[in-house]
Amino acid sequence: MTDPAIDPETLRERAVTTLVTARDRTTLLTSCVEDPDLTAQHSPLMSPLVWDLAHIGNQEEQWLLRAVAGREAMRPEIDSLYDAFEHPRSERPTLPLLPPAEARRYAADVRGRVLDLLESTAFHGTRLTEAGFAFGMIAQHEQQHDETMLITHQLRKGPQALTAPDPEPAPLFTGPAEVLVPGGPFTMGTSTEPWALDNERPAHRREVAPFHIDTTPVSNGAYQAFIEDGGYENERWWDPAGWAHIRQHAIHAPLFWRRDGKQWLRRRFGVTEVVPPDEPVLHVCWYEADAYARWAGRRLPTEAEWEKAARHDPAGDHSARYPWGDADPAPEHANLGQRHLRPAPVGSYPEGESPLGVRQLIGDVWEWTASDFLPYPGFVAFPYKEYSEVFFGPEHKVLRGGSFAVDAVACRGTFRNWDYPIRRQIFAGFRTARSETV
Ligand code: AVJ
Ligand code: FE
Repeated sequence: MTDPAIDPETLRERAVTTLVTARDRTTLLTSCVEDPDLTAQHSPLMSPLVWDLAHIGNQEEQWLLRAVAGREAMRPEIDSLYDAFEHPRSERPTLPLLPPAEARRYAADVRGRVLDLLESTAFHGTRLTEAGFAFGMIAQHEQQHDETMLITHQLRKGPQALTAPDPEPAPLFTGPAEVLVPGGPFTMGTSTEPWALDNERPAHRREVAPFHIDTTPVSNGAYQAFIEDGGYENERWWDPAGWAHIRQHAIHAPLFWRRDGKQWLRRRFGVTEVVPPDEPVLHVCWYEADAYARWAGRRLPTEAEWEKAARHDPAGDHSARYPWGDADPAPEHANLGQRHLRPAPVGSYPEGESPLGVRQLIGDVWEWTASDFLPYPGFVAFPYKEYSEVFFGPEHKVLRGGSFAVDAVACRGTFRNWDYPIRRQIFAGFRTARSETV
């Protein structure tokens, strides 16, 4: 998607393919359980699945049928039900939501009209249609909610509803534990990626001092060493707010973990299993990641450090789209798109490594960074303030790189995610860094 002169047929095909891929995933996530499981609230942190389903359709209607094509609202009375800002997640189950069959019909109805519209859309003339931006934005939005719905499935009690093959077992990773990223400026963010969202823009130069970064995400085995060393009982490793939080909520291990004698078990999509020591740690909050890093004599990377490690090739001065270069993600590069329902062992995906040899920056687990979610210099909200702008500030920490649960269309070297530092239900882990000492 870097070629500025992509012809309209190719753009149309891309728009259709990404929308259809997203809908296939949505359909799977909302058809693998019975209706009562779609309307139930499985956690106060999450919407009922049936809310996500109609919200996906409603956003698509608002942006593609109304904003792009100038159509009238299909069901003006439902807009406010599916406005994420009018109703916090906790109160969504009390709303008169469309029942499952109606929500499905509405989303399908919208989609049918969008596919018709795509037959005649010119991909230029307005910022919304340029290079198919609005279609890409809506495909990304649906995929983001597909990740959200997978989180709801993980929180849901009861037997397994989803299955997927496991990632390939990987040989024990024997490469260096960390790599040195040389200091100097690099280009952060993008002004050319056609479907990049507003918070990834514009491209700008950033000075980064030399630092070392972990070659792989922190593993469950390494994290267990922190637990066994009394990491959760020792205030000195913790940010004061994090210490207060883990005391108040009696947090002693990642979410979904349970000790069984000498070993740790975890619940994953309805199945209880021994925690695999070689997999990236998952379901830790920012405070846990930060405490682990301090215990290890290290720190979390800043967002700029993470992006430089992911995009900068010391052989040139070009920031690539991905660690492996500019090619779209393929299965050999990264664990994305809910192809597997777990991260791959640390050290997997050698073909996806960065020029300096950093692995699994894309896919597997979202990675907490040290940074607050803030606009880049020259940021302009587009097309709506409620995507990014209203979330800027010190209360949200940035996550980078995407998880096994997010599709390639919503994941790239510049992509920015954010959440509160106490959140653990998201598919997040981390890697650590340290400054180069001279
Ligand atoms: C970018 C994942 C934080 O889920 O809150 C979905 C994405 N924005 N609908 C979220 C989003 C509007 C957003 N995150
Ligand atoms: Fe949304």
